[in-house]
Amino acid sequence: MASSSDALSNLYPTPADATPEEFGTVAVLGGTGPQGRGLGRRFAAAGVPVILGSRDAGRAQQAAQPMADAGLPVSGADNAAAAAAARIVIVAVPYDGHGDLLKSLSAELAGKIVVDCVNPLGFDKQGAYQLAVEAGSAAQEAAAALPDSTVVAAFQNVSAVLLEDETRETVDTDVLVLGEDREATDLIGRLADLIPGMRGIFAGRLRNAGQVEALTANLISINRRYKAHAGIRVTDI
Ligand SMILES: NC(=O)c1ccc[n+]([C@@H]2O[C@H](COP(=O)([O-])OP(=O)(O)OC[C@H]3O[C@@H](n4cnc5c(N)ncnc54)[C@H](OP(=O)(O)O)[C@@H]3O)[C@@H](O)[C@H]2O)c1
Repeated sequence: MASSSDALSNLYPTPADATPEEFGTVAVLGGTGPQGRGLGRRFAAAGVPVILGSRDAGRAQQAAQPMADAGLPVSGADNAAAAAAARIVIVAVPYDGHGDLLKSLSAELAGKIVVDCVNPLGFDKQGAYQLAVEAGSAAQEAAAALPDSTVVAAFQNVSAVLLEDETRETVDTDVLVLGEDREATDLIGRLADLIPGMRGIFAGRLRNAGQVEALTANLISINRRYKAHAGIRVTDI
């Protein structure tokens, strides 16, 4: 019998026009954590060369080794070298330290598409909640720190557990993609499309990234209540 996951991936197949070659190399800052490792492994499984970044090159190589051993095009480097070598750089570090890290890498990130998936969230006895961010969102903070980069917000609502679960062939979720540059948001939408079951959808300019980041707090509440790894689906498109 077909699973609900099969049914969804039939509804939302990877579009035939998304090809790994158009993305160049993708680097992941903080690629040693579950979100960065998970995204990196999925992109590499689709044929995109990936460099996992870390504050420590040895830690990055350690995170990359099992994927490389499995035949995936994944290597590890320190964050600066990873950023310098890539066309697209995903930021997957905790909100604490996000601004400082980006400012320190502004030269390496100049001219690159920087994809921020950082959620400024706090946690207390009542669960997860949105932190106030002066710039409006982590993505806008990234754009302010990186005037010479093209910042896109995406993947904030995608569960690392699902990304890292090798028994799941598909990650059945939509990815809201926000930014000011249409070519860049289209490219990152297609990057999401490369992961079977996933669909990238343009969702507005960076000034609307705050509620996408905050929505992750709702998803965490849903996960706790329903013992799930919830994502989102947009209807009628
Ligand atoms: N986990 C999820 O399900 C999920 C889902 C959607 C979005 N996100 C977002 O993705 C980001 C990463 O999530 P995660 O769960 O993978 O986080 P994490 O494991 O806490 O951190 C990821 C990596 O960031 C690096 N790092 C930690 N503190 C840092 C600092 N102060 N400055 C620079 N680098 C630092 C560490 O790598 P090194 O020590 O090797 O440098 C760490 O392995 C977060 O912003 C989160 O909101 C997560």
